[in-house]
Amino acid sequence: MKINVGFVGYGHFAPHIIPYFLAHPDVNKVALAELIPERRAEGARRFGITELYDSFDDMLQNGKDINCIAVHVQRHYHGDMVIRSLQAGKHVYSAVPMASSVEEVARIAELAGETGLIYAMGENRCYDPTTILCRELYTSGALGTYLYGQAHYSHDFSHFHSYERYTGRDNWAGFPPMYYCTHSVSMILSSLGEHVTRVSCMGYHDPGWAHIFSPGKNHWDNPYINETATMRLSGGGIMRINEFRRRAWGHPPTTIECMNGTLASYERSMDRHTIQYALPEGGQQVEDVSARVIPAANIGNMDGSSAYAPIQPVERLPESFRTLHISGHEATHPFVIDDFVRAVKTGKLPPINAWAAARYMLPGLIAHESALRDGEPLPVPDLGEPPAGWEVMGYST
Ligand SMILES: NC(=O)c1ccc[n+]([C@@H]2O[C@H](COP(=O)([O-])OP(=O)(O)OC[C@H]3O[C@@H](n4cnc5c(N)ncnc54)[C@H](O)[C@@H]3O)[C@@H](O)[C@H]2O)c1
Repeated sequence: MKINVGFVGYGHFAPHIIPYFLAHPDVNKVALAELIPERRAEGARRFGITELYDSFDDMLQNGKDINCIAVHVQRHYHGDMVIRSLQAGKHVYSAVPMASSVEEVARIAELAGETGLIYAMGENRCYDPTTILCRELYTSGALGTYLYGQAHYSHDFSHFHSYERYTGRDNWAGFPPMYYCTHSVSMILSSLGEHVTRVSCMGYHDPGWAHIFSPGKNHWDNPYINETATMRLSGGGIMRINEFRRRAWGHPPTTIECMNGTLASYERSMDRHTIQYALPEGGQQVEDVSARVIPAANIGNMDGSSAYAPIQPVERLPESFRTLHISGHEATHPFVIDDFVRAVKTGKLPPINAWAAARYMLPGLIAHESALRDGEPLPVPDLGEPPAGWEVMGYST
């Protein structure tokens, strides 16, 4: 099958992602839809794209041989665009977040199940070196029983003016932080293969940002610039998630800070990564694993490095990706893009399919509801596993 990708949205992020679709040996062509004519022209010029559309609607209506849509528009448009793409019979790769309501998330999974089309969420942090390390630690049995973990996504908005420049006609100012929780949540959940059953969350209202983060000042009536949630997992363990948009902090924007088990515990302290193993005779042995998870070079096209770390399974990527250092974010995007293309080609489900993505998304949507009720613990719905018999690809193969 020819994989013809219709890329939607040429904003801040697109130039870091389009090159991977263009370089993938199984992609036949890439077309571009962008509302703003100057951006559309810039995308066409920079990447030699000749098939251009004025909008997503234009592409859906006239791009007859486009069979995959790659959604890279503002975050609160994703759900609707993904649903309409699936309804139009297209496979979908979507930048995070999956959607911004429980109903949209459930509808995406329902449509993916009904149609057999591939939906993949581009949650790159499932391939973060620290996630791969923790997944390895847990699945090998070395961690023992999972007890507690912490992860955060900190994206300080003190430079917000530069983001407004990139957001096109509309903007996502005031978007509830927990609606963008998939980076942090997926790092721990994808290590364990579990889901969240219950959440309690509190929000921080910053008077200095009340012109954006206050009821009546954004589409969501959201008062909180920072949100902190405690989540109960299906295996009984606990995780704490921080989604901060105001914090004097640069690096790392997203990470697992710690993961504690009965036999071993991982901890990140800035750029020092250690595992402490409980010794059978008592006491601990400390292993410094920094060299496995720190990128081999510091090539910074976006946040973080675009170079791979030794622990990442680079050998499973197409040859053409291995020397393409453009995505930033600890070289995690090449894996999710490759997953999507291979899923469309083989008919297998990508690891971050609609059901997995729902598990990374729903805890945050409910967490924000809890924050609005000042921390009231709330149950988190679960859409379950993908349909029986639909093979799911692994992260490392
Ligand atoms: N995984 C990550 O680490 C990561 C990093 C950056 C951005 N993102 C996600 O990628 C998405 C894009 O981010 P960005 O910073 O490029 O946003 P942006 O606002 O800079 O660009 C979005 C573009 O989409 C265009 N657009 C909107 N509606 C459209 C339509 N109907 N048809 C055609 N074009 C349309 C806008 O005109 C704009 O140019 C966001 O949802 C963001 O959350 C993810």
